[in-house]
Amino acid sequence: MTATAKNEEQAPEGAPEGAPKGAPKGAEVIQVRDLVAHWGPRKILNEINLEIHEGEIMVIMGGSGSGKSTFLRHLMALERPTSGSINVLGRDIGSMGVREMFELRKKIGVAFQGGALFSSMTVGENIMLPLHENTGLDRMTMEIMARMKLEVVDLAGFENLMPSELSGGMIKRAAFARAIIMDPKILFCDEPSAGLDPVVSSALDDLILRMRDAMGMTIVVVTHELESAFKIADRITMLDKGDILFTGTVKELKKSKNQRIQNLLNRQTEEDTLDPDEYLRRLTGEELGKGAAP
Ligand SMILES: Nc1ncnc2c1ncn2[C@@H]1O[C@H](COP(=O)(O)OP(=O)(O)O)[C@@H](O)[C@H]1O
Ligand SMILES: [Mg+2]
Repeated sequence: MTATAKNEEQAPEGAPEGAPKGAPKGAEVIQVRDLVAHWGPRKILNEINLEIHEGEIMVIMGGSGSGKSTFLRHLMALERPTSGSINVLGRDIGSMGVREMFELRKKIGVAFQGGALFSSMTVGENIMLPLHENTGLDRMTMEIMARMKLEVVDLAGFENLMPSELSGGMIKRAAFARAIIMDPKILFCDEPSAGLDPVVSSALDDLILRMRDAMGMTIVVVTHELESAFKIADRITMLDKGDILFTGTVKELKKSKNQRIQNLLNRQTEEDTLDPDEYLRRLTGEELGKGAAP
C-alpha cells in the first residue's frame, strides 16, 4: 500500500496562513464544468461546476431527489452528460474510449448502498474479486492483500466467514475493504451508512476518516445525514433541485445566511419558512441561490 503525500506538502505556494481547516490544498483530481444531466426529458443537474482536490473528503448533501446519486453516477462515468465536461485524474471522461475507461475504473473504488457482498462467497473471496478481474496476481498475494485491507476496516480474521454470518455494519466494512483493494486514488460512497443504527454509522464515519488518512485517498461521500457530514467533511457541496446551493467547509456552511441552506440544515420544509421575496422570484422563474456566498 502506498500512502500518497500528505496534503500539507502540496499546499499551493503562497497559500494564506491560517486558511480554514479542511480548505482545499491538494491538486484537483476531479473537475466538473457546466454539467447538465437529464433523465428522459427531466433536467436533473443544472450546470454544475465543482472541483474536488486530492486527499479531501467531499460530502455531497441535499434532500431526497435533489440529484446526489445522479451526480455521483456521472462522476464515475456511469452516465453520459447532456452537456458539460467531467475531468477525472487528468482525463476528460467524455472523450474516453472503452479501454481508457477500463483503466480509469481501476483507480476508482466504489462503495454503494446496494453494493452488497455475494452471499455464496466468503468475505475474503468477495474482497479479492477486483484483484481476480483486474490483475494477474497469484492466489497467495491476493490473500495477503485481502487480509491487509480487512485489517484496515477492523475485520482481521474474518476472511473465511460467509456474509450471512456478519452484522450489517460488518458487511459495510467488508464492502469498503473490497472498494479499496486496488488502492484507488478516489473512493465514491453513496449513502454508506443507510440502514445502520447511529452507533454503527458513527463507527463507519471513523472508518472513512481513517481510510483517507491511511491511504491518502480522495473520498466523495453522498449522504443526507448532517451529523455524519459535519464529522467527516473537509468540504460540503449542497445540492438542491439540481443546483449547487453551496460549496465550502463545515464552518462556512454553518455561518451561511442563505435561507434555503438554513432550512436544509434545520430540516424545515421551505414552504414553512420561505421568504416572500424569494418565493415571488421563484414563481417568476428567476433562479435562486446560485453561487450563494457563505
Ligand atoms: N434511473 C433513473 N431514471 C429516471 N429517473 C431517475 C433515475 N434515477 C434518478 N431519477 C430521478 O432523478 C431525480 C434525482 O434522483 P437522485 O439523483 O437519485 O437523487 P438523490 O440521490 O439526491 O435522492 C429524482 O427525481 C429521481 O426520480
Ligand atoms: Mg441517492
